[in-house]
Amino acid sequence: MFVLGLQGSPRKKGNSVYLLNRFLAACENRGARIETIDLDTLNIQPCRELVVCEKKGFCPIKDEMEPGIYGLIRRADVVVLVSPVFFYNVSAQAKILIDRCQMFWGRRYKMKLTDPDAGSRQGVLLAVGASGGKRLFDGVELTAHYFFDAISARFAESLTYKKVEAAGAVASVPGVENDIRQAADRVMDAQLNKPSLVFVSNKDACRSQMAAAYAKMAAKGGIRVLSAGTHPADDIHAETRGFLEGQGIDIKYRLPRGLDTLMAEEFKDREPSCVVSMASDKVSVPGTDTRYWDLDDPQGGDGLASVGKEIRKRVDDLISELQARYPQE
Ligand SMILES: Cc1cc2nc3c(=O)[nH]c(=O)nc-3n(C[C@H](O)[C@H](O)[C@H](O)COP(=O)(O)O)c2cc1C
Repeated sequence: MFVLGLQGSPRKKGNSVYLLNRFLAACENRGARIETIDLDTLNIQPCRELVVCEKKGFCPIKDEMEPGIYGLIRRADVVVLVSPVFFYNVSAQAKILIDRCQMFWGRRYKMKLTDPDAGSRQGVLLAVGASGGKRLFDGVELTAHYFFDAISARFAESLTYKKVEAAGAVASVPGVENDIRQAADRVMDAQLNKPSLVFVSNKDACRSQMAAAYAKMAAKGGIRVLSAGTHPADDIHAETRGFLEGQGIDIKYRLPRGLDTLMAEEFKDREPSCVVSMASDKVSVPGTDTRYWDLDDPQGGDGLASVGKEIRKRVDDLISELQARYPQE
């Protein structure tokens, strides 16, 4: 599990930092890998409405967004947006980042590309404001709603605290620790209580990536799907990304992952429900339902198309089998 915090306050020891640190610590306690981006320390440029993203699917502005922050957002299972209320909306630091995520909006709504993780990624909003007005968080929540939609995340939790002004004052709000721990538990449970399926190939650059993308689309968030390689490549093959994009499936910014890393990070204290070993490096995970799929190494062109078709068929059958074995409440 990877939980990414986007910290929008300029205060280094302020209320937003407090809320985010507590939330991330609660997730880390449950086994998540965490990372914070302190937006005020970066030099992210505002959106310049060049509209390149809507036509070509990338942002031409050269700064920390591409590929760094875009990649972290896309690889995150949970994105936590944290901001003080500034004039009834998020801070400028947070808003600049949100506007630059128009790139994801363009890929999703103009280019009609679907992020396979759309069914499982969660968005969390944490916000604080000084006054006590009834509609204090309306602007922040509406902005967060459309931000999470653009990055293909379900708006899972919103914790907002009014009448909090001095730096760190939120720590004394009655119940805040409990709220945070319970919200973090719900977010973690939503991922960890699902059955899990891991596709393993040699490099995690083609076959396992295709299988994972198809499986995520078929399972619609009901199964935690991962992929890994015994000897992971530095990047996914460009042909694989292009092939899936041709089918409307967006795996831009995904990266190969080593099997050892994946097992250490995701399965420290539990086993995957099912592992599919799909390349010449056969793997076995003790105590796990392991399948061996004998599939050719696709060499691009027709090879990719025919192997992709075979993978999709097998994946659809496997997902149906797992859905029957683990019916959702
Ligand atoms: C530029 C600016 C604008 C603000 N606008 C509002 C506002 O519209 N409504 C409100 O209740 N508080 C407003 N505040 C107060 C902050 O939201 C409040 O002090 C908050 O606790 C700061 O959180 P932080 O410590 O995470 O930065 C504003 C503060 C600043 C500096």
